[in-house]
Amino acid sequence: MEKKVCAIYPGSFDPPTLGHLDIIGRAAHLFDELIVAIAVNSAKQPLFSVEERLSLLGECCAKLSPTVRVLSFEGTLLVGFAEQVGAQVIVRGLRAMSDFEYEYQMASINRQLNPEIETCILLTSSEFAFLSSSIVKEVARLQGDVSQLVPPNVLSALKEKFAS
Ligand code: COA
Repeated sequence: MEKKVCAIYPGSFDPPTLGHLDIIGRAAHLFDELIVAIAVNSAKQPLFSVEERLSLLGECCAKLSPTVRVLSFEGTLLVGFAEQVGAQVIVRGLRAMSDFEYEYQMASINRQLNPEIETCILLTSSEFAFLSSSIVKEVARLQGDVSQLVPPNVLSALKEKFAS
């Protein structure tokens, strides 16, 4: 029987950007199943609640591919969550060389924790190389135009958050 490969794409996604969707769309082509995993970090003060992020990403992913699911996890290691959902691959995006050291460290510790799970690094498309969720929040907070950086549902949600 053919072996199905399930991958997991973790991140904070506060909020999701077109850079994230670029990685999700491309990873969805590579793997039989892709789980986008929203990491809930209680030490961070997110702009969007986990429910809001689940809903925003869920809407975007439904348009991208039927093989993508969006879940959240909290209080567990990424490799532990990957084991729980049956993922054999961790997908990460690399925007610039400055990301490399952090990604290398994360991939190494994750391999140490579970050598069965591989990290697969996709190079971010060049038009999104400068993009981060913090940049998007900063520009939106100061009423700048982020319509080229985020999907329409995130744009509306940002406008609502910063309306006052
Ligand atoms: N396009 C646009 N932006 C991108 C991007 C892309 N392709 N890839 C990353 N980014 C941005 C993110 O938006 C984020 O921006 P911000 O810092 O302004 O919010 C930034 O780059 C970092 O994102 P990311 O690398 O996804 O980090 P994260 O903090 O969102 O997530 C986890 C890191 C969740 C994967 C990691 O902390 C984790 O695995 N936690 C679970 C606990 C664990 O297992 N720890 C041990 C292993 S390290």
